[in-house]
Amino acid sequence: PAPAILTCSLLEWYDRHHRSLPWRVPPAVIAAGERPDPYRVWLSEIMLQQTTVGAVKSYFDAFTSRWPTVVDLAAADLDDVMKAWAGLGYYSRARNLKKCADLVAHELDGRFPETEEGLRSLPGIGDYTSAAIAAIAFNRPAVVVDGNVERVMTRLHAMETPLPAAKPAIRAAVREMLPEDRPGDFAQAMMDLGATICTPKNPACGLCPLQVGCLAFREGKQERYPLKQAK
Ligand code: ADE
Ligand code: SF4
Repeated sequence: PAPAILTCSLLEWYDRHHRSLPWRVPPAVIAAGERPDPYRVWLSEIMLQQTTVGAVKSYFDAFTSRWPTVVDLAAADLDDVMKAWAGLGYYSRARNLKKCADLVAHELDGRFPETEEGLRSLPGIGDYTSAAIAAIAFNRPAVVVDGNVERVMTRLHAMETPLPAAKPAIRAAVREMLPEDRPGDFAQAMMDLGATICTPKNPACGLCPLQVGCLAFREGKQERYPLKQAK
C-alpha cells in the first residue's frame, strides 16, 4: 500500500487507542481546533528524555500544579526546582530546564519558538526534543524519531542496514508517511505504537494498523529488526 494509506490507518488507530497522558491533548480535542500548551509539551519532553512515561507522570503533575506557566518556573528558586526534580535523575536536565525557563520568560516574552531551529537554540533541547516540540506543540511537519520509531520503521521496511547506519533511511521513511494536516498526532501515534503494539518482544501484530504493509510481519521476522551494528 502507498505510505498515505498506512498513515491513515495509523491515525485512525490513534484516534481510538491513544494513551491518555497528563501532558497530552487527545486527538478529538486537537481536531476541534485546540492546541497543546507549549510549556507543558516542553516540560514533558525534557522529563521524558531519560525517564519512562510511568515515572514521569507524578513529577509532571507536581511541576505543573506548582508552576503552571513558564513565567512561574522562571520566578522559582533553582534550589526548589532541584528539590522537586529529585528522583528523576540526570540533574543537568533540571539546571537546563531552569535556564531555558528564564530565557523564554525574560528574553522571549514567555513564548517558546515555534520552529525546530529556534527550539534547538535553547538550553537542554537537542535534535530529538526540538522535533518533538515543533510537531506536538506547533503542528510542524518535523521528523520525530526515537528508539520506538526506529523499531517500527525498520520492521515495516525490513531494513537490513544495522543501526546506527540505518538512521537516514529511517528518517526518509518517516518523512514519506508524514501527514501535513496532523504531524503532532502522527508523532505521538508512532510513539504509542512502538510502546504498546510494536514492542521489542512479541509485538502484537494482530492489532497493528501497519500490518498490511509490514515486510517483517510478512516474513515472520519481526524480532530480527532493528539490526544492530556489532560493537
Ligand atoms: N516519549 C517521549 N515523548 C513522548 C510523548 N510525548 N508521549 C509519550 N511518550 C513519549
Ligand atoms: Fe511492528 Fe508487527 Fe506492526 Fe510490523 S505488523 S509494524 S512488526 S507490530
